[in-house]
Amino acid sequence: MRETRPVRLERLPEQYFTALLARVAMAAALEGDPLVDLGRGNPEVGPPQHVIAALAQSAARSDVHGYAPFSGLPALKQAIAERYGAVYGVQLDPVREVAVLPGTKTGLMEFALCAVESGGTILLPDPGYPDYFSAVALAGARHESFSGFEVGADAMYLNFPSNPTAACAPDGFFEEAVEWAHRNDAWLLHDFAYGDLVFDGRAPQSFLRAEGARHVGIELFSMSKSYGMAGWRLGFAVGNRELVRRIELLQDHAFAGIFRSVQEAGIAALTGPQESVEERRATYERRRDRVLQTVQGVRAQSDGTFFVWFELPDGMTAEGLLEEHRLAIAPGEGFGRRGEGWARLSLAVTDDLLDLGLERLARALA
Ligand SMILES: Cc1ncc(COP(=O)(O)O)c(C=O)c1O
Repeated sequence: MRETRPVRLERLPEQYFTALLARVAMAAALEGDPLVDLGRGNPEVGPPQHVIAALAQSAARSDVHGYAPFSGLPALKQAIAERYGAVYGVQLDPVREVAVLPGTKTGLMEFALCAVESGGTILLPDPGYPDYFSAVALAGARHESFSGFEVGADAMYLNFPSNPTAACAPDGFFEEAVEWAHRNDAWLLHDFAYGDLVFDGRAPQSFLRAEGARHVGIELFSMSKSYGMAGWRLGFAVGNRELVRRIELLQDHAFAGIFRSVQEAGIAALTGPQESVEERRATYERRRDRVLQTVQGVRAQSDGTFFVWFELPDGMTAEGLLEEHRLAIAPGEGFGRRGEGWARLSLAVTDDLLDLGLERLARALA
């Protein structure tokens, strides 16, 4: 029977965020106070006006509606290379070291397909972003939780600042990872989706600053968080030439480029005024401080991203908060076994909604 014949897709785990959204929507439909959702990470502020204007002006032209070059506009690659030089001190060859992605989530999938053969082993952070599990499963690979650089594998995902733990990379971590990759003849992916959102005076830390990093891996940079362009679907894979070549090859087969106007607006975002990036960062840091004050006495951390990761005190559960306090947070076990007993709270909501959520959390903690 064709309906029951096994297909690769069935290896996919449950999509954690889809399931979480469904649970929250069900709870929201029940009678009671309006639910406060601090579970999802969807940037609440869009891109700056000049980026929206660039999109509108571009889309009004008649020559932008056909297929754009499959591998992206050269000027967009140039723009991200210049930003990498200016902001992270990393020099990139825009032609051979930059691939344009329809969102970095796509790049997470593509990396697994480009880096390992079926049956290969990929190390993943635990707790870590659930889509890594999906990428490994679709590639027909096996995953193991990262537990130190002693264990070998064919590839590894890294993610700093981390979703969900909001931790930045410890000193020397990237260098050790590069050494590990050389030792194991393995590939690395560094997911830099929250790269610009770092707190307490930290400087953004590109993986490509580590010596030799571009010989063994790529970094994914997302327009979603730095510029509030999550719905626009635009990101980059930068670094290793062979992985960039493979990703572009895969995209030649699977996609037909990205709408030219979105790419042109991306150039406007990357090359225009950058104040909005700092405003966004400072806003999340201010909100992070408010949350840490509320959860004083509870183990909680956030060095960056727009999340706070905290340990649920005895007797408190995510379901209990949802049902009794009408407050949604993301339960930690969805990010891996080591996330059990912890939870992720999002700062990507309005100040008013965060205040309301924190009132409820304080009541639950009292
Ligand atoms: C850790 C991490 N990586 C990647 C992504 C995907 O970002 P993009 O919107 O660029 O696909 C997200 C989005 O939430 C994320 O949290």
